[in-house]
Amino acid sequence: PREQKLAAVGGGGVGKSALTIRFVTSQFSEQGYNPTIEDSYRKQFVVDDEAVTLEILDTAGQAMADQWYTFGSGFLLVYSITDRPTFESLPHFHREILRVKDRDYVPCVVVSNKCDLGRLRAVGQMEGRELARSLSAPFIECSAVDGVNVDIAFRQLVKLVRKD
Ligand code: GTP
Ligand code: MG
Repeated sequence: PREQKLAAVGGGGVGKSALTIRFVTSQFSEQGYNPTIEDSYRKQFVVDDEAVTLEILDTAGQAMADQWYTFGSGFLLVYSITDRPTFESLPHFHREILRVKDRDYVPCVVVSNKCDLGRLRAVGQMEGRELARSLSAPFIECSAVDGVNVDIAFRQLVKLVRKD
Protein backbone atom coordinates (compact mmCIF):
# COMPACT_ATOMS: atom_id res chain seq x y z
CA PRO A 1 0.00 0.00 0.00
CA ARG A 2 1.09 3.56 -0.64
CA GLU A 3 -0.28 4.68 2.68
CA GLN A 4 0.66 3.49 6.13
CA LYS A 5 -0.82 4.40 9.46
CA LEU A 6 1.74 4.46 12.24
CA ALA A 7 1.41 5.36 15.91
CA ALA A 8 3.83 6.35 18.65
CA VAL A 9 2.90 4.82 22.00
CA GLY A 10 4.50 4.67 25.44
CA GLY A 11 4.42 6.33 28.84
CA GLY A 12 3.93 10.02 29.57
CA GLY A 13 6.81 12.35 28.77
CA VAL A 14 8.99 9.81 26.94
CA GLY A 15 9.17 12.01 23.86
CA LYS A 16 6.51 10.60 21.51
CA SER A 17 5.51 14.09 20.36
CA ALA A 18 9.09 15.33 20.14
CA LEU A 19 10.09 12.31 18.01
CA THR A 20 7.06 12.64 15.75
CA ILE A 21 7.58 16.37 15.26
CA ARG A 22 11.32 15.86 14.71
CA PHE A 23 10.53 13.30 12.02
CA VAL A 24 7.82 15.34 10.33
CA THR A 25 9.52 18.77 10.46
CA SER A 26 13.21 17.87 10.94
CA GLN A 27 13.19 20.16 13.97
CA PHE A 28 13.09 19.72 17.71
CA SER A 29 9.88 21.05 19.17
CA GLU A 30 10.93 23.62 21.76
CA GLN A 31 7.50 23.85 23.32
CA GLY A 32 8.62 22.15 26.52
CA TYR A 33 6.38 19.50 27.97
CA ASN A 34 2.83 19.68 26.86
CA PRO A 35 0.94 16.42 27.46
CA THR A 36 -0.76 15.23 24.30
CA ILE A 37 -4.42 14.35 24.01
CA GLU A 38 -4.14 13.13 20.44
CA ASP A 39 -2.45 14.59 17.36
CA SER A 40 -1.92 13.33 13.87
CA TYR A 41 0.53 14.21 11.12
CA ARG A 42 1.06 13.30 7.50
CA LYS A 43 4.38 12.95 5.78
CA GLN A 44 5.62 11.70 2.43
CA PHE A 45 8.60 9.47 2.83
CA VAL A 46 10.73 7.39 0.49
CA VAL A 47 11.94 4.00 1.67
CA ASP A 48 13.91 1.69 -0.64
CA ASP A 49 13.12 3.98 -3.61
CA GLU A 50 9.42 3.65 -3.01
CA ALA A 51 7.25 6.54 -1.85
CA VAL A 52 4.87 6.09 1.05
CA THR A 53 2.43 8.50 2.64
CA LEU A 54 2.50 8.15 6.38
CA GLU A 55 -0.28 9.11 8.69
CA ILE A 56 1.24 9.24 12.14
CA LEU A 57 -0.81 9.25 15.29
CA ASP A 58 0.84 10.84 18.30
CA THR A 59 -0.92 9.30 21.28
CA ALA A 60 -1.26 10.36 24.92
CA GLY A 61 0.98 8.65 27.44
CA GLN A 62 -1.44 9.52 30.20
CA ALA A 63 -4.23 7.36 28.87
CA MET A 64 -4.70 4.39 26.58
CA ALA A 65 -7.36 4.00 23.99
CA ASP A 66 -8.16 0.89 21.98
CA GLN A 67 -8.94 2.97 18.90
CA TRP A 68 -5.28 3.98 18.61
CA TYR A 69 -4.28 0.36 18.41
CA THR A 70 -7.00 -0.34 15.88
CA PHE A 71 -5.81 2.61 13.79
CA GLY A 72 -2.15 1.73 13.48
CA SER A 73 -0.58 -0.88 11.28
CA GLY A 74 2.82 -0.28 12.86
CA PHE A 75 3.93 1.10 16.22
CA LEU A 76 6.85 2.93 17.73
CA LEU A 77 7.06 1.62 21.31
CA VAL A 78 8.83 4.47 23.04
CA TYR A 79 10.48 4.67 26.45
CA SER A 80 12.92 7.15 27.92
CA ILE A 81 16.36 6.01 29.07
CA THR A 82 15.99 8.42 32.02
CA ASP A 83 12.68 7.01 33.24
CA ARG A 84 12.76 3.38 34.31
CA PRO A 85 9.00 2.93 34.83
CA THR A 86 8.43 3.88 31.17
CA PHE A 87 10.76 1.03 30.19
CA GLU A 88 8.98 -1.37 32.50
CA SER A 89 5.56 -0.46 31.14
CA LEU A 90 6.46 -1.09 27.50
CA PRO A 91 5.42 -4.78 27.46
CA HIS A 92 2.03 -3.67 28.66
CA PHE A 93 1.55 -1.39 25.64
CA HIS A 94 2.70 -4.20 23.39
CA ARG A 95 0.27 -6.69 24.93
CA GLU A 96 -2.59 -4.23 24.53
CA ILE A 97 -1.80 -3.76 20.85
CA LEU A 98 -1.79 -7.52 20.25
CA ARG A 99 -4.97 -7.95 22.25
CA VAL A 100 -6.90 -5.24 20.42
CA LYS A 101 -5.72 -6.43 17.02
CA ASP A 102 -6.21 -10.06 18.02
CA ARG A 103 -2.89 -11.04 16.49
CA ASP A 104 0.29 -12.58 17.82
CA TYR A 105 2.53 -10.30 15.76
CA VAL A 106 2.21 -6.62 14.94
CA PRO A 107 5.07 -4.59 13.39
CA CYS A 108 6.77 -2.61 16.14
CA VAL A 109 10.08 -0.87 16.75
CA VAL A 110 11.36 -0.33 20.29
CA VAL A 111 12.60 3.25 20.58
CA SER A 112 14.87 4.09 23.47
CA ASN A 113 14.64 7.89 23.52
CA LYS A 114 16.59 10.74 25.12
CA CYS A 115 19.95 9.10 24.44
CA ASP A 116 21.46 12.62 24.62
CA LEU A 117 20.88 12.42 28.39
CA GLY A 118 23.41 9.66 29.03
CA ARG A 119 24.41 10.99 32.43
CA LEU A 120 20.81 10.52 33.63
CA ARG A 121 20.53 7.03 32.20
CA ALA A 122 18.34 4.69 34.26
CA VAL A 123 17.95 1.91 31.70
CA GLY A 124 20.95 0.11 30.22
CA GLN A 125 21.27 -0.38 26.50
CA MET A 126 21.53 -4.15 26.91
CA GLU A 127 18.27 -4.23 28.84
CA GLY A 128 16.63 -2.31 26.03
CA ARG A 129 17.97 -4.72 23.43
CA GLU A 130 16.82 -7.66 25.50
CA LEU A 131 13.32 -6.25 25.81
CA ALA A 132 13.13 -5.55 22.08
CA ARG A 133 14.21 -9.09 21.33
CA SER A 134 11.54 -10.48 23.64
CA LEU A 135 8.95 -8.45 21.69
CA SER A 136 10.40 -9.54 18.30
CA ALA A 137 11.08 -5.89 17.46
CA PRO A 138 14.19 -4.02 16.33
CA PHE A 139 15.83 -1.79 18.95
CA ILE A 140 16.88 1.78 18.22
CA GLU A 141 18.35 4.40 20.54
CA CYS A 142 17.18 7.86 19.50
CA SER A 143 17.28 11.47 20.52
CA ALA A 144 14.56 13.84 19.41
CA VAL A 145 16.78 16.71 20.56
CA ASP A 146 19.78 15.74 18.43
CA GLY A 147 17.74 14.02 15.75
CA VAL A 148 19.86 10.90 16.17
CA ASN A 149 18.33 7.80 14.54
CA VAL A 150 14.82 9.26 14.32
CA ASP A 151 14.46 8.77 10.55
CA ILE A 152 15.99 5.32 10.89
CA ALA A 153 13.36 4.29 13.42
CA PHE A 154 10.51 5.32 11.10
CA ARG A 155 12.27 3.76 8.10
CA GLN A 156 12.58 0.40 9.87
CA LEU A 157 8.95 0.51 10.87
CA VAL A 158 7.83 1.26 7.28
CA LYS A 159 9.82 -1.75 6.10
CA LEU A 160 8.27 -4.03 8.72
CA VAL A 161 4.76 -2.90 7.82
CA ARG A 162 5.48 -3.54 4.13
CA LYS A 163 6.61 -7.07 4.93
CA ASP A 164 3.67 -7.80 7.21
P1 GTP B 1 2.79 12.73 26.47
O1 GTP B 1 2.20 13.45 25.32
O2 GTP B 1 2.37 13.29 27.79
O3 GTP B 1 2.54 11.26 26.43
O4 GTP B 1 4.42 12.94 26.40
P2 GTP B 1 5.35 12.68 25.14
O5 GTP B 1 5.76 11.24 25.13
O6 GTP B 1 4.72 13.18 23.89
O7 GTP B 1 6.67 13.53 25.48
P3 GTP B 1 7.09 14.94 24.83
O8 GTP B 1 7.48 14.75 23.41
O9 GTP B 1 6.08 15.95 25.13
O10 GTP B 1 8.44 15.20 25.64
C1 GTP B 1 8.42 15.32 27.06
C2 GTP B 1 9.59 16.17 27.51
O11 GTP B 1 10.82 15.51 27.17
C3 GTP B 1 9.64 17.54 26.81
O12 GTP B 1 10.14 18.47 27.72
C4 GTP B 1 10.61 17.31 25.68
O13 GTP B 1 11.27 18.50 25.29
C5 GTP B 1 11.60 16.33 26.32
N1 GTP B 1 12.23 15.45 25.32
C6 GTP B 1 11.62 14.73 24.35
N2 GTP B 1 12.51 14.02 23.64
C7 GTP B 1 13.72 14.31 24.17
C8 GTP B 1 15.05 13.86 23.86
O14 GTP B 1 15.33 13.08 22.96
N3 GTP B 1 16.04 14.36 24.67
C9 GTP B 1 15.79 15.24 25.68
N4 GTP B 1 16.85 15.68 26.38
N5 GTP B 1 14.56 15.67 25.97
C10 GTP B 1 13.54 15.20 25.24
MG1 MG C 1 2.92 13.90 23.51
